[in-house]
Amino acid sequence: MRKPVIAGNWKMYKLVADSVAMALNLRPLVANANHCEVIIAPVFTALKTVADRLEGSNIKIAGQDCSVETQHGAHTGEVAADMLRDAGASHVIVGHSERRQFYFETDTFVNRKTQAALAANLTPIVCVGETLAQREAGHPESVVRGQLEGGLRGLTASDLDRIIVAYEPIWAIGTGLTATPEQAQEMHAFIRRVFAERASNGQAGALRILYGGSVKPDNIAGLMKQPDVDGALVGGASLEAETFAQLVNYNR
Ligand code: PGA
Repeated sequence: MRKPVIAGNWKMYKLVADSVAMALNLRPLVANANHCEVIIAPVFTALKTVADRLEGSNIKIAGQDCSVETQHGAHTGEVAADMLRDAGASHVIVGHSERRQFYFETDTFVNRKTQAALAANLTPIVCVGETLAQREAGHPESVVRGQLEGGLRGLTASDLDRIIVAYEPIWAIGTGLTATPEQAQEMHAFIRRVFAERASNGQAGALRILYGGSVKPDNIAGLMKQPDVDGALVGGASLEAETFAQLVNYNR
């Protein structure tokens, strides 16, 4: 049984006070959500305060990114994975499409970040997904395969047990367009097959694959009904406690 994951990516939103207020509002609303893991990813500057205030709750904390570097050193502006862990994170998003598109992250970078996260005992949420042009050109699978193979290169069998994959078609992120449940299912099943080539069938069967891209309270149930959709990575709809709680409680 794969335990679903509902993760909120707050992106570059919310000052510390707003982040704490949101987290404290969310806490009671999801306190009974034992059916899934609940994760929020605040900005770096709010992460530790939010983590401290949520101690003892069922809400886990993710970083939105981490450095490729594992040794502390002269890397201005970077945050090492073990620093995220130290601040209270258990997870980290790597390879988000906004980082790939606007900050020129390559699969090699995503791979190094995944390894850095694992070395720091964080669970990486590795994001993959095609652009609209790539989908329209008819080869979204080969794009996703390349991202997966590149992102997971060199990972050991036990590393592969410790990752989460998020499929986020770029054309659906923040656009209000969502992949249909069928489109999501098709790509998730493909991702599981590609993963099985790298890992065992058993490991592929245990891999959690989250869908991301305009997930909202009115479309989450259809997505979660798909056999290979194991959760959601949510941007816009994760910024408000009531809405995010509805997503977490998609099964009610
Ligand atoms: P969205 O963002 O839900 O606002 O489309 C998803 C994401 O970027 O993770």
